[in-house]
Amino acid sequence: MEKEQQFQILIANESHQDFAQIICDEMESSAMARGTGIAKRSPDYIKAKMREGKAVIAFTQDNIWAGFCYIETWSHGEYVANSGLIVAPAFRKSGLAKQIKKKIFNLSRKQYPEAKIFGLTTGLAVMKINSELGYEPVTYSELTQDEAFWAGCKSCVNYEILTSKERKNCMCTAMLYDPKDHYEPEETAQDFKQHSKLYERFMKIKQWSLLKPFLRKDKEKDKEKTTNGAAKPKSFFHQFFVW
Ligand SMILES: CC(C)(COP(=O)(O)OP(=O)(O)OC[C@H]1O[C@@H](n2cnc3c(N)ncnc32)[C@H](O)[C@@H]1OP(=O)(O)O)[C@@H](O)C(=O)NCCC(=O)NCCS
Repeated sequence: MEKEQQFQILIANESHQDFAQIICDEMESSAMARGTGIAKRSPDYIKAKMREGKAVIAFTQDNIWAGFCYIETWSHGEYVANSGLIVAPAFRKSGLAKQIKKKIFNLSRKQYPEAKIFGLTTGLAVMKINSELGYEPVTYSELTQDEAFWAGCKSCVNYEILTSKERKNCMCTAMLYDPKDHYEPEETAQDFKQHSKLYERFMKIKQWSLLKPFLRKDKEKDKEKTTNGAAKPKSFFHQFFVW
């Protein structure tokens, strides 16, 4: 994919509702390919976001759907999340996610100027983009404590880890933009760029240490089953994580 590909990045409206199904399908298949879970969204939910003007949609110059993201609010508007970021596989690595995130971030700032904007992600691409926008890594305690937000994690393959850590930690890195702190995006971005390899290693170590007890438990279960003569099943967590 050429880096120079041009896209139309638009605030979605009711005229885009026919794209809701393809967006949901792509979100689901991408999550399966990554072996991670997602908070499941229905086409109706996506359509409502479009009608409310709380979503950004991207197309190529030939009007082919290329990407999407939407705004969610929590704790009565005190927190905002830019969720469901998705770029169609054919248009990845051409800077589109960065453009979509910038547009949805500016829209969030306009609609909710006082709100803290946060994200939870395992993706390095998203961490990079968030840093450029001025987000900083934070602990989970700094995020919304709205039950409805955390309920979205139930469909994630790592939900057991989140609950075992009493919602204080999990595989995702939490990042937050607090308008009161006036982060200088350039500073944060430079800091992330300089240390991105370090972040990546830190994430792997953190994820490994979170997974270790579950891997051990799975191994013991497998051993028990093999001893009893049953075929050796693949452990739950080994199915999802390739290091
Ligand atoms: C993650 C995703 C949105 C990135 O979209 P994209 O359009 O390819 O991203 P961009 O081209 O804007 O890249 C932004 C930055 O991340 C980097 N990047 C992109 N994909 C990356 C990857 N898989 N691993 C590491 N870095 C990556 C780019 O090099 C770029 O960095 P740079 O500014 O230093 O050049 C896309 O891969 C996708 O839709 N994945 C499936 C859904 C998903 O994971 N959504 C995020 C949920 S939190």
